[in-house]
Amino acid sequence: MSPCLENYKGAFLFPFHHQRISNIIFINFMTKTDTTENLSTKIFIKNWSIYRKIIAYDNMSHLSGYSKLKQIIIDEMGKPFSFVDLACGDAYYSSKILIETNARKYTGLDISEQALSLATENFKGSQIEAEFIKADFIDFPEYIDSEADVIWVGFSVHHLDRDEKLEFMRNIGEVLANGGIFMLYEPILLEGEDLKQYYIRFKRTFDEYWKGLDPEESDYLLEHVRETEKPETREGWIALGKEAGFSTAEKVFSERTGLYEIFKYK
Ligand SMILES: C[S@@+](CC[C@H](N)C(=O)[O-])C[C@H]1O[C@@H](n2cnc3c(N)ncnc32)[C@H](O)[C@@H]1O
Repeated sequence: MSPCLENYKGAFLFPFHHQRISNIIFINFMTKTDTTENLSTKIFIKNWSIYRKIIAYDNMSHLSGYSKLKQIIIDEMGKPFSFVDLACGDAYYSSKILIETNARKYTGLDISEQALSLATENFKGSQIEAEFIKADFIDFPEYIDSEADVIWVGFSVHHLDRDEKLEFMRNIGEVLANGGIFMLYEPILLEGEDLKQYYIRFKRTFDEYWKGLDPEESDYLLEHVRETEKPETREGWIALGKEAGFSTAEKVFSERTGLYEIFKYK
């Protein structure tokens, strides 16, 4: 790759960092002047420690959701495969489940430098070839250069508007290998529920199930949910997949609180 690259918004040229450490490669496509940070990303960029606690206390059912992901991969991917993890965060659970599968190559893409730095640690010494890209996940087609066997997005697509979700899913269809699988783990709206009612249900679930956050962290998290989350109904997530051109689209998992579900598209 050349030491310079056209800016992904097409505006100017800038240098990027490209580092290799044993099985790991890290590519930074962002400039210091990038202004992609907004309310939906702020919580992760500034405060990864809040999300670390959320994972540690299993508030968002990472444990059961990622076990389901592992099971699907084992059942459906007979041969060594490539796995693309969009908005990968610190890849804590991805790294844990993939070592128990036939994964050959892992690509993690995220906007948060802090999360990516933890993610590289989680793959150090692994047999899996791992590549990390610092970029906006909406722009992923510019960075994923070969056909991907499995594409996974955990808890991130619900920040997009419906037309952006649709375009994003159409783009996924373009880079997915023949026989590949695309999966999402996302919050769902109930039928007839609006975003205000969703937030009230989220807050009820938060009060009942969530643990480990102090009052300031809780306020920060609740503001993030209230101001930035735009989930679809179960049927809505399925309809988006069909509209995007996938021949099958189905819900394959619901976690204990009823907030989050996994959808599988082929
Ligand atoms: C809720 S966390 C999910 C992390 C991981 N996928 C998981 O299952 O736990 C959302 C992640 O999306 C990242 N993110 C938010 N906006 C992004 C964007 N526009 N492009 C890339 N990553 C983004 C955050 O940095 C954070 O790591």
